[in-house]
Amino acid sequence: MEGEVKVRPHERFPEVYWVEFDDERRLSTRNLTPGRTVYDERLITLNAVEYRLWDPYRSKLAAFIVKGGKQISVKPGYKILYLGAGTGTTVSHVSDIIGESGKVYSVEFSARAMRVLLDNLCRYRRNVYPILADARLPERYPIPKSEMDGLYCDIAQPEQARILVENSEVYLKRGGLAMIALKARSIDVTKPPSQVFEEETRILEGNGFKILQTLKLEPYDKDHAMVVGEWNP
Ligand SMILES: C[S@@+](CC[C@H](N)C(=O)[O-])C[C@H]1O[C@@H](n2cnc3c(N)ncnc32)[C@H](O)[C@@H]1O
Repeated sequence: MEGEVKVRPHERFPEVYWVEFDDERRLSTRNLTPGRTVYDERLITLNAVEYRLWDPYRSKLAAFIVKGGKQISVKPGYKILYLGAGTGTTVSHVSDIIGESGKVYSVEFSARAMRVLLDNLCRYRRNVYPILADARLPERYPIPKSEMDGLYCDIAQPEQARILVENSEVYLKRGGLAMIALKARSIDVTKPPSQVFEEETRILEGNGFKILQTLKLEPYDKDHAMVVGEWNP
């Protein structure tokens, strides 16, 4: 590519990078499957390392980081329970960050999305474990009730906070972090988004979570907020 490219590690999050070119800096992760893209994201190679640009308009986890999120529930080597995997846009970057020694258990109830996840991700990334299941019924996942280091929830459902709590009770390590992407319109269209975020946050606080941060994701996602909590039941 033309012009100078620089790569700097993110100031807080291991295995997250800033790729700088054309007077811009763009979020990215190191590609665990060099040469292969997941959602037509741009690939940039520097010093024989390939980076995948991570679009905050396509991924709420990227939007949270770009907007100055202080802590995330995803780190190298972690076992992550991911609710609402979709076709794997964000799961793929989680897979890059946790690396070969981590695991991301990816729950999705749409068979159509699951097929894409299997074909595009699971076939090539050995740390992505697909779970075709309903996040409202965590006891039924076909995995051991082992302790997860982190949880990520993006299911655009009413009662998202309650669903997160029920999953945490079964799977999340004490002291582990959970992130939840709240979509105000999915929860209650009649209330102002701030009120919806407050009410969902209160459910988390009343059921074992210490809230560490709440961040609105505008302009990347309208009427969305990301909440980060520590599990201390
Ligand atoms: C906003 S999309 C996820 C996007 C994805 N997290 C990303 O960033 O690439 C929400 C996903 O949650 C799934 N979903 C919604 N309710 C669910 C439930 N109860 N159990 C499992 N998956 C669910 C939907 O099928 C959809 O694929």
